Amino acid sequence: MIAACQRGVAILGVGSYAPERVMTNDEIATLVDTSDEWISQRTGIRERRLAADDEGTSQLGARAARAAIEDAGIDPAEIDIIVAATASPDYYFPATASLIGTEIGAGKAAGYDLSAACTGFIYALAQGYAQIASGMADTVLVVGAEVFSRLLDWSDRSTCILFGDGAGAVVLRRDGNLTGMLGFDLGADGEGAGLLSVPAAGNAPSKGEAPYVQMNGPEVYKFATHVVVESAVRCLDAAGLAVADVDLFLPHQANQRIIDHAARRLGIPEERVFGNVAQYGNTSAASIPLALDEAYRGGDVKSGDTILMVGFGGGLAWGSCVMEWTKER
Ligand code: ACO
Repeated sequence: MIAACQRGVAILGVGSYAPERVMTNDEIATLVDTSDEWISQRTGIRERRLAADDEGTSQLGARAARAAIEDAGIDPAEIDIIVAATASPDYYFPATASLIGTEIGAGKAAGYDLSAACTGFIYALAQGYAQIASGMADTVLVVGAEVFSRLLDWSDRSTCILFGDGAGAVVLRRDGNLTGMLGFDLGADGEGAGLLSVPAAGNAPSKGEAPYVQMNGPEVYKFATHVVVESAVRCLDAAGLAVADVDLFLPHQANQRIIDHAARRLGIPEERVFGNVAQYGNTSAASIPLALDEAYRGGDVKSGDTILMVGFGGGLAWGSCVMEWTKER
């Protein structure tokens, strides 16, 4: 689906959290047959963060949420709905969003989790936007949080090198003086479901699948390189914009080669592309809000800039959002 947005639903605050523990490529090379050179050349990843033993996805999400709420300058009790995008929840239930709500003092805000793997944050942002645009809610907290390191088979070198842990969050609110969200493009193709998956408790036991990330890397790579470009163009079209209008391209941080390829095909110059995959690896649903927060805090975006975000991954799903950034640091 593609959608042009009503004006006036904007990001009021953004925050992120990455665990302290850094795991370098050299450290991974002590676990599996790989090297810093192979990982950095094929993916651009140099290191990733790992959650501590006493940190769950909800704690990471709550830290990012607190930072976003502080940035927004609101009282947590003003939040109507919390949408937590995650593929690595603390529990099947209760929802991670519910745990985050309690940790941050969000009163009795409604809360639920959303599962769309690495596209989760864009899907959750679309829901937050729609809830506000329809008048159902005034203030929505959208969180992307993952402890992907616990979904990995650490003896599988084709997957364990790629992922990391982290969280990012935004506070969305209606403000008639701001432009905010401009357009969305969302989609999914279950035909590719088997190319990237993590079996859960409901999986048919006869399949005999281990509960870890399973991925056909080259096929996912091919999917990603074309879907990022196609989804970005559809999203810009929906908003009546052209590639030349984009001040910052902020794609899902999975692989630097995918990002470079998409930027080249779209014709977006390097200086307008934001990336931090080298420091964090692929943090799935956390990757886009983590990058957005870094771009904002690092002064890479200013009020009035047009930001294009594109997610892709398990599903196989994709999602893009274009918005006008309305905050000044
Ligand atoms: N270290 C050293 N060698 C390795 C490693 C490793 N970590 N992993 C694989 N190899 C070897 C393979 O065994 C193979 O060897 P062979 O030629 O002797 O058979 C060779 O390297 C090439 O393997 P490929 O899988 O073809 O390598 P490719 O260039 O495709 O890179 C990669 C693999 C990095 C995984 C790439 O396919 C990729 O990035 N795919 C997209 C993955 C992705 O983004 N997934 C997340 C999506 S988001 C989500 O929803 C979770």
